[in-house]
Amino acid sequence: MSVEPAAVEDVAAGLRGVGYLPGDSTALVSFLAARLGKPVLVEGPAGVGKTELAKALAKYLDRRLVRLQCYEGLDEAKALYEWNYRKQLLRIQAEAQGTGWDAVQDDIFGEEFLLERPLMTAISSAEPVVLLIDEIDKTDQEFEAMLLEVLSDFQISIPEMGVVEAKSRPVVVLTSNNARELTEALKRRCLYLWLDYPTVERELEIVRLHSPDLPEALGRRLVEVVHMVRQLDLKKPPSIAESIDWARALILLGADDIDQAMLEKTMSIIVKHRTDLDVVAERVGVKLSGGIAATG
Ligand SMILES: Nc1ncnc2c1ncn2[C@@H]1O[C@H](COP(=O)(O)OP(=O)(O)OP(=O)(O)O)[C@@H](O)[C@H]1O
Ligand SMILES: [Mg+2]
Repeated sequence: MSVEPAAVEDVAAGLRGVGYLPGDSTALVSFLAARLGKPVLVEGPAGVGKTELAKALAKYLDRRLVRLQCYEGLDEAKALYEWNYRKQLLRIQAEAQGTGWDAVQDDIFGEEFLLERPLMTAISSAEPVVLLIDEIDKTDQEFEAMLLEVLSDFQISIPEMGVVEAKSRPVVVLTSNNARELTEALKRRCLYLWLDYPTVERELEIVRLHSPDLPEALGRRLVEVVHMVRQLDLKKPPSIAESIDWARALILLGADDIDQAMLEKTMSIIVKHRTDLDVVAERVGVKLSGGIAATG
């Protein structure tokens, strides 16, 4: 049985329970999405937990996660359904000589010959699922229009077969990195959640959740350095994902502090552009020369 949250606090606690630490607006919007049945559009920089939110919701709500990974050129055949041509051909070949086309046609355009793709799977599932439409900004506007139809009517029409009505209502999470502006029509139908880099306190909690062995003082130092780095004008500021990686690396290296030398040795884990590395070495490196005691 899937879970039906009764209050925002339930969602906050539930997400924590499955290892996702939500901010206030994340818990609120997730609660509304689950109760109002409206899709959520999650936007924000890379690596702030957009995709992970959908996975965590599925775990907490005890629903299957159906994922549609978007990319340029994604079409209906990969998102909705496709006819299984091979099987259809075999079926036709197996037919006795002289069988009329009408008889064969009725046969080969049935459910048995349909390959379900994620959107179809999500609405035709008997048990409600969480549908993750990841990186919707990578597709074109035509795809968005098709998606709108599915998300507002919760049905898919197949010319050869008729209309497939939804058997259950999925919780829908769409994510976007803002590679292109999404249409107003899509935004109007969605709840909106902007995920940003977390505060020092919450990021420390997230990092320690992923690396329980990380000593508190080192963890705090790490997150403070990452926040310092984010304030520089970089091509690609470090995300939560990079903070987590850095923590793991520091543990492996047996580091007990992040001083200038340690930063320079390991900073390629958090910044990944040549020019960014130079900026960080110059602007942050010097501030760390004193060690934890001096700055913290
Ligand atoms: N609130 C959070 N609680 C726990 N872990 C988190 C949280 N936010 C992010 N993470 C962790 O950060 C990492 C990156 O998250 P995720 O892949 O969801 O980012 P994203 O926003 O989808 O990035 P991208 O735009 O690059 O796809 C994951 O390992 C995830 O577990
Ligand atoms: Mg993602």
